[in-house]
Amino acid sequence: MELTQWATQWITGGRSTFHRAGKRLSLCRCKTFRVTVLRTSCSWVCFTALVCALFLLLGVCLLNLFDPGLQPFPLTGVEPRDVTLLLWTHPFGRYRRLPDCEARFGIHGCVLTDDRSMYPVADAIIMHHREVTTNATALPSDPRPRGQKWIWMNFESPSHTHGLRRFEGLFNLTMTYRADSDIFLPYGYLVTSLHPHVNAPHTRPRRPHLLAWVISNWSESQARVAYYRRLVNYVDVDVFGRAGVPLPEDSTVVRTVRRYLFYLALENSQHTDYITEKLWNSLLAGAVPVVFGPPRENYERFLPHDAFIHVNDFPSPRLLAQYLMLLRRSPALLQRHLAWRRSYSVHLTAFWAEHYCTACRVAWAMSTPG
Ligand SMILES: *[C@@H]1O[C@H](CO)[C@@H](O)[C@H](O)[C@H]1NC(C)=O
Ligand SMILES: *[C@@H]1O[C@H](CO)[C@@H](O)[C@H](O)[C@H]1NC(C)=O
Ligand SMILES: *[C@@H]1O[C@H](CO)[C@@H](O)[C@H](O)[C@H]1NC(C)=O
Repeated sequence: MELTQWATQWITGGRSTFHRAGKRLSLCRCKTFRVTVLRTSCSWVCFTALVCALFLLLGVCLLNLFDPGLQPFPLTGVEPRDVTLLLWTHPFGRYRRLPDCEARFGIHGCVLTDDRSMYPVADAIIMHHREVTTNATALPSDPRPRGQKWIWMNFESPSHTHGLRRFEGLFNLTMTYRADSDIFLPYGYLVTSLHPHVNAPHTRPRRPHLLAWVISNWSESQARVAYYRRLVNYVDVDVFGRAGVPLPEDSTVVRTVRRYLFYLALENSQHTDYITEKLWNSLLAGAVPVVFGPPRENYERFLPHDAFIHVNDFPSPRLLAQYLMLLRRSPALLQRHLAWRRSYSVHLTAFWAEHYCTACRVAWAMSTPG
C-alpha cells in the first residue's frame, strides 16, 4: 500500500476489526445469561453437563476477549539468521543506547546499529517521521540495496503528522500505534496476570485525592482543554505539568497519580487507536482513567468495558462530575471499575527499545522463507 493512501485510511479510520472484537464481547455476555435460563428447563444431569460445556465455552470466550492481533508481534518461532536493522536517526534527535534484544526481550538474531556505513548491508532501516520530514536529516542517497525494507516509524497522531506526500511510494512497512500497521506497537497493553494477588484491586490504599490531570502542552484550541474548562465548574481538578503545578522533582506521573482515585487521560487529538501513555500511566497508578480520545468502542478493543470511564458516557461534564463524586462515596460501585485488575496486569511499552526489537523480529520473519 502506498503511504499517502495508507495515511488517508489512517485519517479516515481505515479497516477495522472493532466489530469482531465487539461481537466476541457480546457473545460472552449472552452465554452467561443463558446459564440462568437453562437452569429452570433442564434435568439436573442435563444441567450439570450444560454448565460444564458453558464453562468451557466461557473459558474459550475469555481467552478471546482481546484480539491477539492487538498485541505486538508474537515472540515465538524458529532460530533466525541474523538480521541487521539500521536506525537512521534517533527519534527527536535524542541519542539512546541501542538495546540488546536478546537480553531484554528474548529476541534472537538482531544486529541493531545506528552506524550509517552499514547502509549497504542492512536488511531494514527505521526512519522516524519527525526527523526525515523536517529535513533535519536527508534520506539515504545511495541506491537501495535489493531486498532492503524501509520502515516508516511514527507515534504522533495524524493531527501532528505533516509532510506525508513526499514519501509516496518510498516505504515498505509502517510502524505506528495503529492496530492496522505492519508493525503494531500500542503505547501499552494488558497481559493476562500470572500473579493475580499482586494486582488485586486498589480500592483501599489511601487515595486522599479525587481527580488529577498532568498536561504539558496546553492549547486553548484543543478539545480537551475546552472540556476541562467545563468540567472544572463542577469538580476540583489538580492540574500538574508545565500548564499547572510542576510535578515534584523526585516524582513521576505514576507516583503522583497514585494518590488519586481518578485521572484525566485526555488525548491531544482524537483519532482511531490513538490512546497514549496517559491512559496506561493512570492504570499503572491504580487510578481509574477518565478518557477523552477515540470513541468508547475503540478503547474496548484494548481494555475491558469497566476499566475506564469515557467522557461520552455522560451527556454533560456536570453529570460526569456527579458520577465521580458518587463513586468516591460508594466503594462497591467503584469496585466495578477495578475488578478487571484481578485478571490482567498493565504493560507500558518501552520507548524505543521495544520498538526496535519488535521491528527486528518482523524483519527477520519476513527475510526467512516459510
Ligand atoms: C525538505 O527537502 C525537500 C527536498 O529537498 C523539499 O521539497 C521540502 O520542501 C523540504 N521540507 C522542509 C520542511 O524544509
Ligand atoms: C520497498 O519499496 C520500494 C519502493 O516502493 C520498492 O522499490 C522495493 O522493491 C521494496 N522492497 C521490498 C523488499 O519490498
Ligand atoms: C501543542 O499543541 C498545539 C495545538 O494542538 C500543536 O500545534 C503543537 O504541535 C503541540 N506541540 C507539541 C510539542 O506537541
